[in-house]
Amino acid sequence: SAPATVSPTGQPTGADQARMAQSGSHLTNAQGTRLYDTDHSLKAGPRGPVLLQDHHLREKIMHFDHERIPERVVHARGAGAHGVFQSYGTASAVTKAGFLAPDVETPVFVRFSTVVGSRGSADTVRDTRGFATKFYTSEGVFDLVGNNIPVFFIQDAIKFPDVVHAAKPHPDREIPQAQSAHDTFWDFVSLHTEATHHTLFFMGDRGIPRSYRMMEGFGVHTFRLVNAEGGTTLVKFHWKPKLGVHSLVWDEAQLINGNDPDFHRRDLADAIEAGAYPQWELGIQTFPDTPDQTFEGIDLLDPTNIVPEELAPVQPIGLMTLNRNPSNFFAETEQVAFHVGHLVPGIDVTDDPLLAGRLFSYLDTQITRLGGPNFPQLPINRPHAPVNDMLRDGMHQTAVHRGVAPYKPNSLDGGCPFTAGADMSAYIETPVTVPEGRKVREAPESFADHFSQPRRFWLSMSPVEREHIIGAYTFELGKCYEEAIRERTLQVLANIDPELCSRVAEGLGMTAPEPTVPLADVEPSPALSQIGG
Ligand code: HEM
Repeated sequence: SAPATVSPTGQPTGADQARMAQSGSHLTNAQGTRLYDTDHSLKAGPRGPVLLQDHHLREKIMHFDHERIPERVVHARGAGAHGVFQSYGTASAVTKAGFLAPDVETPVFVRFSTVVGSRGSADTVRDTRGFATKFYTSEGVFDLVGNNIPVFFIQDAIKFPDVVHAAKPHPDREIPQAQSAHDTFWDFVSLHTEATHHTLFFMGDRGIPRSYRMMEGFGVHTFRLVNAEGGTTLVKFHWKPKLGVHSLVWDEAQLINGNDPDFHRRDLADAIEAGAYPQWELGIQTFPDTPDQTFEGIDLLDPTNIVPEELAPVQPIGLMTLNRNPSNFFAETEQVAFHVGHLVPGIDVTDDPLLAGRLFSYLDTQITRLGGPNFPQLPINRPHAPVNDMLRDGMHQTAVHRGVAPYKPNSLDGGCPFTAGADMSAYIETPVTVPEGRKVREAPESFADHFSQPRRFWLSMSPVEREHIIGAYTFELGKCYEEAIRERTLQVLANIDPELCSRVAEGLGMTAPEPTVPLADVEPSPALSQIGG
């Protein structure tokens, strides 16, 4: 066959990549030598012992033995799709990111997921859903690694191992595999009340979406956009599904899990195959980049907070269409590696302490999951921009680099003639002023209110959504073995709303406690309701 074409880093591209995996009309071994039989081991006579010299048997079994890679430590179960993002250009005033300029089209790959369950778990469990998008921009890869719930359980990434250990199956019996109905989870969220807002969200209808095509997505953290003049704006990212936001009811979700555990995965793939391409509008809420990084009294660095859309409307900036199913689940959906640190010029991070830990975690975990540091070379992860890094060698290196040595400064061999430059096209961290202070392990005072925003959420729900939430808490807490955990959770509910607490207490046959904090005086945010919004 024709010699493979290579990228600047020596990697085969496009069709050549596929041809390397499967070409020719004969079955061969991994070295390209033709086989005459792959159904029988080499034996000393038809009924005799199998011979150690059977190198085809050993190669075939050895490769099979290593077919599995570790599943993701969280978000193990997912479904992906390719598509395109068309920018409206409406964000150009606030960001210089090229893919957000007018009329630019950017290829994307999206992976939707559940958080807690293992790779083989069911789709319609009560859980948060991941919504991770990789934009292959001409200025490098930008990943928006979000969820279908706009807030998170914790305010500081150092608590992530705790919340995940609490939510994962119990270590002795490995149950429950996917759902939230267990003691460790409720123990954690009732002791750690900053989790209240997220818990309330996923006890609501958003915890059991009807379809991946009918979910909102949220970047959760506040990000900082930078425009061509160096001006900065704080933003929150939102995906709004063109089909609207729809959920299952609990009984439907239970039945579907039994009948078709692949329900969401099948729905996405079937819709795309039928040409019913799902679409989302990307939007931003914008806030002035003030030194205190608050908006209307809301701390923008606290990822347990939303900013009500009534206070800061979501402004559409582009349209995403998913129009192609993956052709190989492992190569694409399983090997894709998202990272909140994959940023392009014009999009920067803020000092949200949850985001800081994520900036470490994704790259770190992928070194284990994808077997070394060279996973950016996997086809699904490759940027659609020239790559000229100084990273070399390592496990699973497939690029053939040229030149003497990747170091700078370097006067030899023209070996490293490429420059890094602080021009418009380079990624430059925003030179924000860092507040001075003592080095401490403590949260700011503004992170201390754990009940006002949950109360706003509860007050924003329509009557039917409230009934679903009451039913969900009653069901989930009814599965807890420990009475003390139920009592403590009722206390959390009393601090959100007395009616919510008393209805759940009634369902559990328990007494509703009095609130221990004054009930927050907050206005509903109609946009939080799937029915009323
Ligand atoms: C995976 C979202 C917080 C660590 C994921 C995925 C999503 C996601 C969507 C799946 C990506 C995929 O489909 O491959 C979020 C959101 C968070 C959050 C929205 C909070 C706002 C955290 C934190 C940590 C963390 C605080 C750790 C400090 C991980 C890890 C994975 C993961 C280790 C697996 C990644 C892999 O194996 O490729 N997260 N996450 N996440 N997340 Fe997060």
